Amino acid sequence: MPNINIDKEFFYVCIDFGNMQLIDTHTHLFLPEFDSDRNQVIDNARENGIERVLLPNVDSSTIEPLLSLVNKYPDFCFPMMGLHPTSVKENFREELNKVEDWLNKRKFYAIGEIGIDLYWDKTFKNEQEEAFRYQIDLAKKYNLPIIIHARESFDEIFRIMNEVIDDKLKGVFHAFTGNDNQAERIIEWGFKMGIGGIVTFKNSGLDKVVNNIDINHIVLETDAPYLAPVPKRGKRNESAYIVHIAKKIAEIKNISLEEVATITTNNAKQLFKL
Ligand code: NI
Repeated sequence: MPNINIDKEFFYVCIDFGNMQLIDTHTHLFLPEFDSDRNQVIDNARENGIERVLLPNVDSSTIEPLLSLVNKYPDFCFPMMGLHPTSVKENFREELNKVEDWLNKRKFYAIGEIGIDLYWDKTFKNEQEEAFRYQIDLAKKYNLPIIIHARESFDEIFRIMNEVIDDKLKGVFHAFTGNDNQAERIIEWGFKMGIGGIVTFKNSGLDKVVNNIDINHIVLETDAPYLAPVPKRGKRNESAYIVHIAKKIAEIKNISLEEVATITTNNAKQLFKL
């Protein structure tokens, strides 16, 4: 074999992004962080081979900006509907009613993002669990995949998943940072793992786990404006940086960047019926 590192670098520099199609399956381009240059950010993404992005909702306050972006870029931005676990407060039942109202009003591509987050605040742990279960029921009712946000809550999420999983329920473990065993369980359930900027972080250990995951179970995501990959770590993230994540996965798996793009894009298209 020739020197792989040099070949990869050469390939990356020379690749024609016009022929490569990538999908950012998780990006919050509707948030205020992009108010001053949102159109430019979308142009950047397209110039870097990103053909589509999926927008996970946060709560009722983000629905209007999310949908107005979708209306402006209907071939590029695809909406999801859901209540984020960190937005689960006293009024969560009201919020969940709004989620279902919207599911009846227009097409959404997934229920998300939903789950349990015990990192920021444990006050509403029970309510978060109730909201998660309720939204899984919505996903089953409307035949949509789910986007799971699990932060310091793998045990809780796995316990619930074991109860609710069936042949039809599909989705993504967003910002996956688990171990080999957890990856195996997720694959058994027929779910995908959303891999983002963390895989490029030194000492994250995620590279070793990703190396053991068949790429057919991976979709790419930025979670912009958060979690920017190296070499943009610490800066505002944007969908164009999917390329850095795809490049890292190509390095880990010793396959071409184009192969990563083709397979992960197909995975996303199948899951979200794009
Ligand atoms: Ni997110």
